[in-house]
Amino acid sequence: MGMRILGWGTALPDKVVTNADLEKTLDTSDEWIIERSGIRERRIGDSTTDLAVGAGRAAIEQAGVDPASIGLMILATTTPDQQVPATSAQVHHELGLSGGAFDLNAACSGFVYALVTANAMLSTGPNRILVVGAETLSRITDWTDRNTAVLFGDGGGALVVESVPDEGQLLAWDLGLDAEARHILQADHGGYIKMDGREVFKRAVRVMVDSAKRTLEQAKVRPDEVKLLVPHQANIRIIQAACDRLGIDREKAALVMHRTGNTSSASIPLALVDAIEQGRLEDGDLVLLAGFGAGMTWGSALIRWQA
Ligand code: COA
Repeated sequence: MGMRILGWGTALPDKVVTNADLEKTLDTSDEWIIERSGIRERRIGDSTTDLAVGAGRAAIEQAGVDPASIGLMILATTTPDQQVPATSAQVHHELGLSGGAFDLNAACSGFVYALVTANAMLSTGPNRILVVGAETLSRITDWTDRNTAVLFGDGGGALVVESVPDEGQLLAWDLGLDAEARHILQADHGGYIKMDGREVFKRAVRVMVDSAKRTLEQAKVRPDEVKLLVPHQANIRIIQAACDRLGIDREKAALVMHRTGNTSSASIPLALVDAIEQGRLEDGDLVLLAGFGAGMTWGSALIRWQA
């Protein structure tokens, strides 16, 4: 048994915050932010529920399926609206899904973790699953801290997946973490994100590359056979360094960070859907998802695209 992607969707808050807006309150500059991160603007607002519902609804409509035929929802988020209940409960209710729902927190690797989990669940339970990544990082960002405030944003992205009797589209994957690095990126309950940016940067490139290599080896695919790399959208320089080390042309990376910032679990589906909508994928193309995040977690997955 395998997994087939039926539909995709995204949601972003209306409010745009540009680097120029941040210059008004922080000791920073548009030039510095673009040069060091690649980010030009980010979207801020809404709740995690709103963004998950918006992205989920768009994906279900695009798939053209009855919401009640979806027997499970997995919501990857590191910014739930409440501690209890899980944010997935309200999202499940608003979308009119059936079966169960749960939140999954693997930080910015969350969407890859959720997709791999869905792939496994499809072989034993529901035959349709909604996989969502949605975040409101603006709520845990200290807007007076220039080290972090320039990087993060809010958003959501979703896929509807279905079981198929053959190998399906998810060809190989790799998940992992290094808890010794958990202190380099963290937020306490009720607190803000604190980060050792340089350390995160160094480790991010390494773990993303190593994980992607393991996934490609498992599928017996060469880096040059990858048509599209969908990396976590944290920093353009991390992505470029990872491309160079993997031997994947930089032009093959899907990028939305310049207009979304880092949206954690939402960033990979936002970039994937953008690439789909730009017509960058044809049936049979190999798509490599690669994420990393607090924990420090990482996750990569190889998909054979089939519209
Ligand atoms: N505006 C202007 N200057 C800033 C600034 C800002 N917003 N933030 C930091 N600086 C300053 C620093 O204070 C430092 O000044 P100093 O040299 O006088 O000490 C200087 O810019 C360089 O800082 P440095 O940390 O070396 O910059 P960098 O090139 O490493 O870029 C990050 C900083 C945060 C953009 C980069 O390290 C990064 O993206 N790291 C990974 C973060 C990440 O991906 N987090 C999420 C993981 S899921």
